[in-house]
Amino acid sequence: MIGRLNHVAIAVPDLEAASAQYRDTLGAKVNPPQDEPDHGVRVVFVELPNTKIEFLHPLGENSPIQAFLEKNPSGGIHHICYEVDDILAARDTLIESGARVLGSGEPKIGAHGKPVLFLHPKDFTGTLVELEEV
Ligand code: CO
Repeated sequence: MIGRLNHVAIAVPDLEAASAQYRDTLGAKVNPPQDEPDHGVRVVFVELPNTKIEFLHPLGENSPIQAFLEKNPSGGIHHICYEVDDILAARDTLIESGARVLGSGEPKIGAHGKPVLFLHPKDFTGTLVELEEV
C-alpha cells in the first residue's frame, strides 16, 4: 500500500535557526517559509535527493504544533509521510483493519496541494503517520 517516504516532519521552536542550520551547516536546499493557515502551521521544506524534511512551526492560535513544542521545547520529529496511489482506498483498508484515522476521516489538502490523512500514532508504533496521495 505505502510507497516512497515523502517527508519527515520536524517541529522546530525557531524556523529561521533550523533553516540556517540545514542550509549553512548541512548544505541542504532550503525553501522559503510558507503559511498553511488551514493546518495552523508555518512550514519550510528542505529538499534532499531522496526525500524532504518539513520544518513545522505554530501559526495562529490552537496550532496542533503548540502542545508538541511545549512537551519538546528543543523540537522533535512530529510525523512521517508515506505516499499512496489512492488515499480513499488506503483509508478504507486501514479502517477495516482497525486503524484510526484522525479528524473527520476525509482527506484534507496538504502542504503540497495533494490530499492527505493522518493516522493515530498509538496504532502505528507510536508515530504519527501522514498519507499523501501522489
Ligand atoms: Co507532513
